[in-house]
Amino acid sequence: MTKLSVDNLLGIKHLTKGDIDLIFQTADHFKEVINRPIKKVPSLRDITIANLFFENSTRTKLSFELAEKRLSADILNFSAAQSSVKKGESLIDTVNNILSMKVDIVVMRHPHEGAGNFLSKHVNAKIINAGDGAHEHPTQALLDSYSIREKLGTVKGKKVVIIGDILHSRVALSNIFALQLQGAEVKLCGPTTLIPKYITKLGVGYEKNLRKALEWCDVANVLRVQHERMDIKYFPSIREYTQLFGIHKALLDSIEKDIVIMHPGPINRGVELTSDVADSKQSIILNQVENGVAVRMAVIYLLAEQIKRD
Ligand code: CP
Repeated sequence: MTKLSVDNLLGIKHLTKGDIDLIFQTADHFKEVINRPIKKVPSLRDITIANLFFENSTRTKLSFELAEKRLSADILNFSAAQSSVKKGESLIDTVNNILSMKVDIVVMRHPHEGAGNFLSKHVNAKIINAGDGAHEHPTQALLDSYSIREKLGTVKGKKVVIIGDILHSRVALSNIFALQLQGAEVKLCGPTTLIPKYITKLGVGYEKNLRKALEWCDVANVLRVQHERMDIKYFPSIREYTQLFGIHKALLDSIEKDIVIMHPGPINRGVELTSDVADSKQSIILNQVENGVAVRMAVIYLLAEQIKRD
């Protein structure tokens, strides 16, 4: 397979196993490139990319920007907070104005589920979803799987537990789709109030007890408690959440195997993970960030190839 089966990257739900394999093979090449003294290739000299961030981001925004620079694309950076969106301009008007500047690819983070999908039906550019509400965050799931593959050799057959605030997490849904496509077994762990009811239809298990979940898994992907998306109380207190679902060194050390610890960031240190776990040898959190650049280079490169072919 040399071509993605999709025209845009809106969600992992739309990808095939072949797409993921192609993205990872391409990312392997770019990972080698970004470790050279000259970390840049001229592949996308004729491509212009707009990064539209309607919601805050550190990792995703910087990672996309660096990936685009490493590929020699021209870049426009847009942050809603400093834009005419604040004067009431609509999403379509905003994007069409940007596209009239001859933009080929739009990378968009938006607080509303389906925003990327909506855009893809109304504008003539490739769309990459950089996170839409609590729906999907496809490049995060790709870099997560890529990091598991790098650490454990393969994703197939691995047991992955996703821990914490699943209800408000786009990372959880994209990870479930990506891990299942690659033949991993997935369980969720967290307060029942933070586990969406539809999740059982996705063929994942649920384990309420954190110790049992950790004893079962090869990889624990720990999610942030998303206070900003909570309009009601989902658990009595942060203290109680941490007692039941926080991972600390003594707990990790008492499990008789080396579980791989992951977190998409940003971390609430002392809530879902203590610092001695986040910064331990078992943690691959910064490898995830490093791999994000190569994986995003791969996604952008493969979509740009389609523009060149058309
Ligand atoms: N993982 C992630 O999406 O982080 P940011 O919100 O900082 O981009």
